[in-house]
Amino acid sequence: MRIDVVTIFPEFFSVLDVSLLGRARTQGVLDVRVHDLRDFTHDRHRTVDDTPAGGGAGMVMKPEPWGEALDAVLTPSSTVVFPSPAGALFTQGRARELSSREHLVFCCGRYEGIDQRVVEWAGSVAAEVLELSLGDYVLNGGEVAAMAMIEATARLVPGVVGNPESLVEESHEDGMLEYPSYTKPATWRGLETPAVLLGGNHAEIAAWRREQQRERTRRIRPDLLAAGAPEEDRKDQP
Ligand code: ADE
Repeated sequence: MRIDVVTIFPEFFSVLDVSLLGRARTQGVLDVRVHDLRDFTHDRHRTVDDTPAGGGAGMVMKPEPWGEALDAVLTPSSTVVFPSPAGALFTQGRARELSSREHLVFCCGRYEGIDQRVVEWAGSVAAEVLELSLGDYVLNGGEVAAMAMIEATARLVPGVVGNPESLVEESHEDGMLEYPSYTKPATWRGLETPAVLLGGNHAEIAAWRREQQRERTRRIRPDLLAAGAPEEDRKDQP
């Protein structure tokens, strides 16, 4: 998978050099390129923002540098992501969808956002354009959101996570939260690992884990059950 990132803070993305994504990059499974938006400006101050049309507080990112940056990276098969608190919610399902794309382009806005014509124009060139939000809160810019979306997406690309089985039983994969995990020792600071996990009965363990998933999801994220967990789990809602 090829990923291009356009940002005024390329140094944010140095974390992509470490851990599983770093290894995937070294091995050629992931080809990530980070571009400095200011390299596409032509004035002495490398200006990327201007005052908002119609007035108001803050600054808006100018369309011209974005146009030139995207001219350099977009192809008709690109999927373009604009991280934005005004976007649709980024979910595990969305990460799975994006993980099958051959080329992702993340456009990281700052200030009050990017001139909306850039989003519109990108739609006339790329295969797909998405405005996606990490959640209902406001970050200082798209960089941290893009990092989260890149990690959630790239780890689903075959070959990035060593053991693909570890991707199956995770929170959100089946619309529910993951069951709690334990390891050795069986007793730690007076706290016991649940006996069922030490008994070796695989059917009992599976049933216990399923019940833990239901209980946790009901207690912490009842909205997930309402939204489409499997039928047998939805019936148990309070
Ligand atoms: N930029 C600022 N806040 C954001 C959010 N919550 N999600 C995505 N991008 C953002």
